[in-house]
Amino acid sequence: MARRRQIYEGKAKILFEGPEPGTLVQYFKDDATAFNNKKKGTITGKGVLNNRISESLMTRLNEIGIPTHFMRRLNMREQLVREVEIIPVEVVIRNVAAGSLATRFAIEEGQALPRSIVEYYYKKDELNDPMVSEEHITAFGWATVQELDEIMSLSLRVNDFLTGLFVGIGIRLIDFKLEFGRLWDGDHMDIVLADEISPDNCRLWDLRTNEKMDKDRFRRDLGKVEEAYQEVARRLGIRIEGGPADVKGPQVIQ
Ligand code: TMP
Repeated sequence: MARRRQIYEGKAKILFEGPEPGTLVQYFKDDATAFNNKKKGTITGKGVLNNRISESLMTRLNEIGIPTHFMRRLNMREQLVREVEIIPVEVVIRNVAAGSLATRFAIEEGQALPRSIVEYYYKKDELNDPMVSEEHITAFGWATVQELDEIMSLSLRVNDFLTGLFVGIGIRLIDFKLEFGRLWDGDHMDIVLADEISPDNCRLWDLRTNEKMDKDRFRRDLGKVEEAYQEVARRLGIRIEGGPADVKGPQVIQ
């Protein structure tokens, strides 16, 4: 019996070699970090919830024709994904002023923006993920002009779809972060949505009360963090069977 070979460990997930070439196993941890690892903690059960929430959202996006790396969920904490070449750019889409945008421009949190705003950040922890423009991205070769066009157009489609989906369950999609990758098939390459979509990388506010239902509860010490993630899952129609029964560590394959 051999352990799966670990390919990469991030702050909230681990990637292992998948069962077939071109696949990876994405394992969701309970670890939570904020402010580029300066604040660390654990949100009990977060990995299980984010695995399910991201499965649910990626599946629905696949159904409307948005290509994603998601293939299928394997167990409580793991999902099978396609191996992609991650583009080192974090795409943030904002509908309502909050977080760093509210701070930077001294806008009150909660104010609707005149239109959705897309921002890019260079994915580089050592540099604190600096904000960059299209010029930086294309000049430094992180993505081509065509790839960025595709990324922008996919991001806006994801935003339109998710905004509607969340309104339907009483949640306002304030902002969120996406990552994309290149999926190669011989000479052909497609840009696909990668990483995860969960309360770790979205701001989700209750439509009626404006209560925060995302990682800001952890970032800002608001309490009831697990409960918020559970409520998002519940509204998406997700039932976590087995309760506290959990996959504690990375799975072993025969
Ligand atoms: P910000 O307001 O802190 O710039 O965050 C915007 C959105 O992006 C918010 O939904 C949280 C998400 N995000 C991440 O997923 N990872 C990050 O490293 C940061 C800074 C933000």
